[in-house]
Amino acid sequence: MSAGRDSATFGGAAPLRGRVRVPGDKSLSHRALLLAALARGRSRLAHLATGDDVRATRHALEALAVRCRDDDTEPSTVHVIGGGFDGLREADSVLDCHNAGTAMRVLAGVLAGRPFLSVLTGDASLRSRPMARIVAPLRRMGAHIDGREDGTLAPLTIRGGGLVGCDHELAVASAQVKSALVFAGLQADGTTAVIEPAPTRDHTERMLRALGAPVSVDGATVRVSRVDEPWDAFEIDVPGDPSSAAFFAVAASITPGSEIVIEGVAVNPTRIGFVDVLARMGARISVVVTGEVLDEPVGEIHVAHGPLTGTTMEGDEIPNIQDEIPVLAMAAAFAEGVTEVRDAAELAVKESNRIGAVQQELTQLGIGCEARRDGFVIRGGVPRGGGTLKSHGDHRIAMAAAVAAHAIEADSTVRGWRSVAISYPEFEADLRALTGT
Ligand code: S3P
Repeated sequence: MSAGRDSATFGGAAPLRGRVRVPGDKSLSHRALLLAALARGRSRLAHLATGDDVRATRHALEALAVRCRDDDTEPSTVHVIGGGFDGLREADSVLDCHNAGTAMRVLAGVLAGRPFLSVLTGDASLRSRPMARIVAPLRRMGAHIDGREDGTLAPLTIRGGGLVGCDHELAVASAQVKSALVFAGLQADGTTAVIEPAPTRDHTERMLRALGAPVSVDGATVRVSRVDEPWDAFEIDVPGDPSSAAFFAVAASITPGSEIVIEGVAVNPTRIGFVDVLARMGARISVVVTGEVLDEPVGEIHVAHGPLTGTTMEGDEIPNIQDEIPVLAMAAAFAEGVTEVRDAAELAVKESNRIGAVQQELTQLGIGCEARRDGFVIRGGVPRGGGTLKSHGDHRIAMAAAVAAHAIEADSTVRGWRSVAISYPEFEADLRALTGT
């Protein structure tokens, strides 16, 4: 395994052994920064995610006059001085969310309630992703939002303030949309209700409730009302990202001789659907809960190599595994029999079109994969190395390809490797440490 400028080479199928702690969870890190900015006083956020996405949220908050400072001694620890919603000030330039959908969509919900102008933009991928899903409901609450193509695409302009609570029945299951509307609802008159078509990650609700904000959950409905006083500053040690852990869980499952423990990882049930999928495929995998932080369970994931068989992923399971589907597709490539993914049309509007990207990379590995509008069908077998794989500019496709390439004797090169910095800059070094290569 060796890193080139924008490519990295994997192969050799060395077993993964030992313990690993992956960087702080990306979803929790975005939210911890926002919640600290909106708190009263100085919060301390340890083990914050190290990737570019979370840095985009931090820089946007700094542009909105929130003071953030790196800890002098602890790496990945940030101090944030919050002043409540009223502490935010109009930025003197455009807020660049880079590749981060969570930054753009959730910040839009925060800024929809602020009585000043904000302009949100991002890189080419983010500027092509659907924004009507936040723009339409935020307009209904009274925010003045515009954007390209009638507010369906970024850049977005937001002139916020004067929000009125209302009921939103969401058409897509999206935690980003739910969170945007919850942050808007905290600034709106009356009550705001968000009704989800299927359960999605519930970090925003859990963390807000743990901080004492007026948020309640009743089945598929989240209710929120105006927050009169900012919540107190807090400390959080952000647990590891289960979506990053999933790469090692699959790598250990498909690489003979592997046995690993991923420690200090977030094991919120809405995030570890991939463990159930791998267990259904016959993997030797288990979860042990060891603690809790801001109502978020933390634990260890134990994984060892074993033979896999195909499975079906569909329905309400999809929102809770959607970020892991690219790497689960790689597990399916090594499994005996057919794996089918259905009800996952959202994959086409992620950081890349992940349906097309997975299909192309599996084909390159010599594995039969039929792409469909809402998923794909994979015929497992013996993947072939020795070629070139592509990231499609998407961090999760890059790491999924690396996991498959690693488990094959012949070396393969992953091009567009730089995209890994979006969520897990240390991935290659951590894989190297686990494999002793
Ligand atoms: C996220 C929600 C999911 C997920 C994304 C992070 C979040 O997106 O795919 O990586 O932090 O809320 P959707 O809200 O579009 O489903």
